[in-house]
Amino acid sequence: MKEQIVKFLPTECPWRDTLHWFDEVASTNAMAKDLAKQGAPQGTVLIAGSQTGGRGRMGRSFASPKGKGLYLSLILRPNCPAEKLMHLTCAVGVAVCDAVEEIAGVRPGLKWINDLILGKKKLGGILTELCVEDGLVAYAIVGIGINCSQKLEDFPEEIQDIAVSLDAFTGKPTSLPMLTGCLISHLYEMNRCLFSSDFMTAYRKDCITLGQDISIVKGDSIAHGKAVDLDAQGGLLVQYPDGTKETVQSGEVSVRGMYGYL
Ligand code: BTN
Repeated sequence: MKEQIVKFLPTECPWRDTLHWFDEVASTNAMAKDLAKQGAPQGTVLIAGSQTGGRGRMGRSFASPKGKGLYLSLILRPNCPAEKLMHLTCAVGVAVCDAVEEIAGVRPGLKWINDLILGKKKLGGILTELCVEDGLVAYAIVGIGINCSQKLEDFPEEIQDIAVSLDAFTGKPTSLPMLTGCLISHLYEMNRCLFSSDFMTAYRKDCITLGQDISIVKGDSIAHGKAVDLDAQGGLLVQYPDGTKETVQSGEVSVRGMYGYL
């Protein structure tokens, strides 16, 4: 499998030498974190055929059945203060949309901040984890999961209403090695211009949350408002019915009309 993926990577992409393939792991993000702690270099890419404990944001699990999805984690060492890296998840989101569009011919939307959406359903997600030491990012783990060839019955019953795969959406089979190679190339380019390119302008175009009525889980309560803008760090500006505004940095946001908020 590794050889098939490498075939789709440009020869000038040095990450082809630090790419590792596993049949099955608990979680590529957890594994990447262990390797990063042991000093694995920037550009270490871990890809798995399946995950037994795939993780998402907010402590959720990410269903990762064998051979049906793309499960990838990347180690970055940007060597900058954490506050300079707040746009990382958004930049990765744009890179993933570029790769999916290039290979499958459809461009997903991004539900703030990390969900990949096709036809109002979840195609996958991004889990970014930072390790900060003395104010500097020692390493960042970028985890990406994309549902590729699942049929409805391949998803756990509780997410069958809200999940979609690329093949189910397009009606055509997607080559996993081709998509994986293309994604790594886009991530490589993204990282090369992480601090020089305007990713937020691109993210804004893909973000389906903007302009929508949303609900925000805040501790034990839920607030309703409208998503009106994004700031340069990827924060979501929300306007409440009383006219007040607030920038939300993280947390659970549901979009009206999309799964979870009807
Ligand atoms: C989310 O939906 O909140 C994010 C899902 C991220 C899933 C990917 S799959 C590869 C990597 N390993 C993990 O355990 N999670 C990420």
